[in-house]
Amino acid sequence: MIDNPNQKIYSAPNIVGYYAQLSQLQPAEQTIINLLQHQLSTMTMLDIGVGGGRTTKHFFPIVGQYIGIDYCPQMITACKKRFSAFSESISLEVGDARKLSQFNDNFFDFILFSFNGIDYISHGDRLKVFQEINRVGKSGGYFFFSTHNLQGIEKEFNWQKNLSFNPITTYVNLVMFALFRWFNPSLTSEKLTNSPYLIIRDESHNFRLQTYYIRPLEQIKQLQEYFSEIKIYSWKNGLDITDEIELLSQSDMWIYYLCMIR
Ligand SMILES: C[S@@+](CC[C@H](N)C(=O)[O-])C[C@H]1O[C@@H](n2cnc3c(N)ncnc32)[C@H](O)[C@@H]1O
Repeated sequence: MIDNPNQKIYSAPNIVGYYAQLSQLQPAEQTIINLLQHQLSTMTMLDIGVGGGRTTKHFFPIVGQYIGIDYCPQMITACKKRFSAFSESISLEVGDARKLSQFNDNFFDFILFSFNGIDYISHGDRLKVFQEINRVGKSGGYFFFSTHNLQGIEKEFNWQKNLSFNPITTYVNLVMFALFRWFNPSLTSEKLTNSPYLIIRDESHNFRLQTYYIRPLEQIKQLQEYFSEIKIYSWKNGLDITDEIELLSQSDMWIYYLCMIR
């Protein structure tokens, strides 16, 4: 059942095909594999928004038990096809992060929602997802996810910052800038500066997705009810960001968060 525009977009054959051919880990994901390397082999893992299986390829061989879910049946079909040789040991099911009722309480040691999958639902649903993850995750287990950074969009919004010595780069940047303004007509710089989070149509998948962007300090606040020991990692280089000043000026387009389940 398709109940929101983003889910419909993720179900399109070309988008499914795109995710089914991705295979590289993002730097922060590699950081977490290194950090948890001595624990992963005994962990039961839930990979939410598994898409075409980019992360399955890396995590399935190293965890104790691996379950991947996605709210798009088309993604699950593509993922099953990709890993058909391992169908006995990889569990891939249609499932929605907002309602994980197929899973018992305190079941998973490690829950992943990678590549900003959490950003394609409403604000209220996002808070429900954190609650559900807290329920199905074991206390002391980990939740690792990424989300778009509202601080990262500020440059996109300022046309002067899109100028370059290379005229072709300047041209491409300004066309993208104009499209960004066109698709986000009600977005003003005051709104951008003063909002803790916003729904934005960015360039990914041709401005069709409605994407949740949040300031890192606001994201930490949202998480604190259900998670402790929140650590933050740069998407680009996978390094942890420990300094609040650095966090306030962090302009990666998205950021990874590792949290311990309460
Ligand atoms: C950006 S794609 C990432 C796919 C894959 N994790 C990867 O890294 O290549 C986001 C995925 O999250 C899924 N998704 C979004 N919201 C979801 C939800 N509420 N429950 C389950 N899956 C969801 C989408 O269908 C899509 O496959």
